[in-house]
Amino acid sequence: MQCDSYPMNGYADKAALLDDARTYWNPDKTDFWVDNGIPMVLGRREGYEFEDIDGNTYIDMHLNGGTFNLGHRNPEVIAALVDALGRVDIGNHHFPTSGRAKLAKMLIDTVPGGTMDKVVFGSAGGEVVDVAIKSARYATGRRKIVSVVKAYHGHTGLSIATGDERFLSMFHCERPDEFTQVPFNDLDAMEDALKGNDVAAVIMETIPATYGFPMPAPGYLAQVKALCERYGALYIADEVQTGLGRTVDFWCFEHHGLTPDIVVTSKGLSGGIYPVSACILNQRASGWLSEDGFAHMGTFGGSELGMQVAMKVIEITRRPGTVVHVKELDEFYSKAFDRLLADHPSLVEVRHDGTIAGLKFAGDGEPAVTFSKMLYDRGVWAIFSTLDKSVLQFKSGLLLDMDQAENVIDRIDDALDDLDRAC
Ligand SMILES: Cc1ncc(COP(=O)(O)O)c(C=O)c1O
Repeated sequence: MQCDSYPMNGYADKAALLDDARTYWNPDKTDFWVDNGIPMVLGRREGYEFEDIDGNTYIDMHLNGGTFNLGHRNPEVIAALVDALGRVDIGNHHFPTSGRAKLAKMLIDTVPGGTMDKVVFGSAGGEVVDVAIKSARYATGRRKIVSVVKAYHGHTGLSIATGDERFLSMFHCERPDEFTQVPFNDLDAMEDALKGNDVAAVIMETIPATYGFPMPAPGYLAQVKALCERYGALYIADEVQTGLGRTVDFWCFEHHGLTPDIVVTSKGLSGGIYPVSACILNQRASGWLSEDGFAHMGTFGGSELGMQVAMKVIEITRRPGTVVHVKELDEFYSKAFDRLLADHPSLVEVRHDGTIAGLKFAGDGEPAVTFSKMLYDRGVWAIFSTLDKSVLQFKSGLLLDMDQAENVIDRIDDALDDLDRAC
């Protein structure tokens, strides 16, 4: 570990800090973790490990949804930021900059087929989902948006309307009539939603992460795209969790045989160091940028510091050595999951692609919450799926070395022995 000390900001110990977190920050969330035996306050962190401020070490298999895809405090990403800090700041969001132009071009080049045209930058995933929806509405002159049941696209004004009831009703944000949900992997329901020729866009997580990574049926996503074309809607690929090399290809939709009209990315694009998000638009979706470039704005979108960080992230992610390593991890995890499935009756299903997976457990209640705690007790941090608590999210870093990967699988194996006995 490199950093010398975690800033305690005057708190004598963890208990004092948790007290103020309860009082001034988020009482329910603070208590949830404490009550579930996971009183985590992140301390030192480096690579794919972090410490609790009590000094216990954990391998990070959550990565905050992929934010730490390239590890915590990746030295190359830090160097890019430090270099930028020596010369620029956030910048003025109205003016062109070399970083904005260059990163936009780099992102356009990541999408095969040469169909992408412009990029809008933001600082969080939900924000650029909103941009994607607005762009589709401008392009089509239609208002309706279709998403899948248990989708998760963020908590901003439009993105939240595409998501689960759980996050809507308490804020009296009941789903507006122009937002419709259909079951995942159900093409008939998708066609029913589209055939009125009045839908602006379908938004799809390529693999719905917060729902526990259920895999798209073979051909499903390409057929959804074909339905969009037939009925005049745009296809928005939300690759916030599945993109940036996590499933071997740079974008997960690449091995599902389609090219979206709009791609949304965030989390890992930040390198875990500086918030950056982006909405990549094809020519049909990008029209508003030629008509009125002041129509959508955000002070921090396109921060000059963030541009330098994101360019470094893309460069590292696309390196041949990185891609080869992710393939190795993919093959290793495939075999390991087959073995775990054969050996453990409590593990009933594994949904796996590249460095991400959903591990589904037998039993009623919330077995993935239990399993998350079992792993925590064994020095691994992996989180349950918020919208299906029978599934644990397994998210491995792109650069995790093979010894650490084996170590994680061994600890999962050991925890599954306990879960088998409890079932
Ligand atoms: C697939 C997906 N899209 C969008 C978002 C929203 O991103 P943010 O939390 O940065 O707004 C998330 C966040 O977890 C996500 O998982």
